[in-house]
Amino acid sequence: MQVLGIYGSPRKGGNTDRMLDAFLEGAVEAGASVERVYVRRLKMQGCVGCGGCDETGTCVVDDGMQSVYPLLEGAEGVVVATPIYFYNVTGQLKLLIDRCQALFMKKQLGAGNGTDQGATPPRKGFLLSAAATRGKRLFDCALLTMHYFLDAIGGQLVGDLCFRELEGKTDVAQVPDLLAQCREAGRRFAGE
Ligand SMILES: Cc1cc2nc3c(=O)[nH]c(=O)nc-3n(C[C@H](O)[C@H](O)[C@H](O)COP(=O)(O)O)c2cc1C
Repeated sequence: MQVLGIYGSPRKGGNTDRMLDAFLEGAVEAGASVERVYVRRLKMQGCVGCGGCDETGTCVVDDGMQSVYPLLEGAEGVVVATPIYFYNVTGQLKLLIDRCQALFMKKQLGAGNGTDQGATPPRKGFLLSAAATRGKRLFDCALLTMHYFLDAIGGQLVGDLCFRELEGKTDVAQVPDLLAQCREAGRRFAGE
């Protein structure tokens, strides 16, 4: 199984980086091949709403996102890790998600003209998230965003691990079992 891990935090070595590292370790143990994208390293802008992809399903904006499209299209599993910023995913991750409008259009065009353009392999998704506080609805927006992101790229959310009360950079490693849960989820994700 080809798994793409998307690191959504600008904070290098923080909680969600560690969660995704552990998840991907588990996936590799279960036999997956893994690719990684760090949104903090991408030189890219958000969708400009130009409509350029409406006819072709291809984004006309020539920047760092162009290297991500083939990885997304080739992945059978997409795992996204993001801290909660103001009750949603990080801005950096949201830029990447918005740019997937081109993949959504590609899917629509393929469905409309009866060709296999935009045909995607069955793709499943998983969300890993961390936040500092305890609110009941802390992860609602991130989960909804993730659901529609996956829908746009021909995927489905099959699970999530969202941890509350993690603020300091290494907090996730201080609470027993949290990273072990991520590793086990990665194993199951790639093994099923
Ligand atoms: C700009 C910003 C916005 C944040 N917004 C929230 C929030 O709305 N709710 C919350 O519980 N924590 C919030 N946090 C805290 C982070 O979600 C938390 O520290 C998380 O563990 C960081 O993950 P990371 O180490 O992977 O970057 C925010 C942090 C930053 C820097």
